[in-house]
Amino acid sequence: MADHVYIEDISEHTGEDVTLKGWLFNYRSSGKISFLELRDGTGFIQGVMLQNDVGDELFERVSHLPQETSVIVTGHVKEDERAPFIPYELKISDLEVVAEPEDEYPITHKDHGVAFLMDNRHLWLRHPKQQAIARVRHRTVEAIRDFFNERGFTNVDAPIFTSSSVEGTTTLFEVDYFGEQAYLSQSGQLYMEAAAMALGKVYCFGPTFRAEKSKTRRHLTEFWMVEPEVAFMEHDENMDLAEDFLAHIVDHVLETCQTELETLERDTTTLEAAAESSFPRITYDEAVDILHDHGSDIERGDDFGGRDETILTEQFDKPVLVERFPSDIKPFYMKDDPDDSSRALCLDVLAPEGYGEIVGGGEREADFDTLQERIQEHELPEEAYEWYTDLRRYGSVPHSGFGLGLERTVAWICGRHHVREMIAFPRMLDKIIP
Ligand code: 4AD
Ligand code: MG
Repeated sequence: MADHVYIEDISEHTGEDVTLKGWLFNYRSSGKISFLELRDGTGFIQGVMLQNDVGDELFERVSHLPQETSVIVTGHVKEDERAPFIPYELKISDLEVVAEPEDEYPITHKDHGVAFLMDNRHLWLRHPKQQAIARVRHRTVEAIRDFFNERGFTNVDAPIFTSSSVEGTTTLFEVDYFGEQAYLSQSGQLYMEAAAMALGKVYCFGPTFRAEKSKTRRHLTEFWMVEPEVAFMEHDENMDLAEDFLAHIVDHVLETCQTELETLERDTTTLEAAAESSFPRITYDEAVDILHDHGSDIERGDDFGGRDETILTEQFDKPVLVERFPSDIKPFYMKDDPDDSSRALCLDVLAPEGYGEIVGGGEREADFDTLQERIQEHELPEEAYEWYTDLRRYGSVPHSGFGLGLERTVAWICGRHHVREMIAFPRMLDKIIP
């Protein structure tokens, strides 16, 4: 009896008899020979079955097996440069059916509409492109953790039930917390500021919630954000950190996901440029000038719209760092530019090719009195922020950080239009099933 091997390891078994366990993805036949496209989660391989090798009965039975039948297949591994998927083929000697589908598999090999695919998300995950996205996401997460671990950051998990808003009150999900008003976390930042005062360099990485009423290709109601926070780090170093971080992620994905990027038919030119860092840096005011030159009617002082971000990123072949936005349109915790108090020491990173903002962050207001004023100006409940202002009461230091949205980053890396495919089970305004 041959040993069970995974398709990803098949090259180590050339010339051997092996057993694969997986699913029948596609079938076609011509006369006394049939071709079975098999998948096992680690890859796809073509199996070739000759009527003379397996006998009439099995040959006939296999010809009726529907798509997604689960199977155990035994055969001989042969190198073949012309084979689809990978340069190996399995010459099948035996096939055992584990379970035949009860009904016809809904996602056939023809094109389907997105609404239908989204309703069948639990099955759509099996599609080669969706598998490729899941692997790119996995490698992105690996790169995120490696980057911070290698630089001596400590991972601190922020709570999901919270008592205060971070990014404004309009996108909070309210929760009844034993009769008290609580919210699902919009950002772990405030907790990371506390942790940075204890541990120096920290990051959190977890689910984040925004009651976004907008149906755009960039918005989820539940997404994953990674948020580093560093004591004694000022604005310029924060920009360097964001740049190095993103370059590292892209570099790692390029190194580990060539097959996946090919499956996704991703042109990797801009990714290769991004992996080399040296991103262009412009101020908000310079960005507004560029926008005006390219037909946008944005008013100086307003935040960028989706279209503005698209125009801006099309001017650069790398991610671009935009710094010093107007303080008025930024959250209460931002530190003002000491040279121009109308501008904040903040940064956004915009991904090229029209993807737009994937990172947002900045230096935090470290002065107790100024922060108290901000909380009042933003009409936030002071009691809920008392612990946070304590951080300025006891040995306050300059500190900075940022948040990177995982799904938007993966969407750009994969070159896919919409963030909904970047998480296994997306949550959006009109989507909670499956
Ligand atoms: O710019 P944001 O709102 O920044 C913060 O939350 C800061 N407190 C982070 C920090 O400084 N620690 O969000 C950061 C990133 C965005 O750039 C974007 O990539 C992602 O989070 N993001 C979303 N992704 C998907 N769907 C949404 N609704 C998102 N909202 C933000
Ligand atoms: Mg932002």
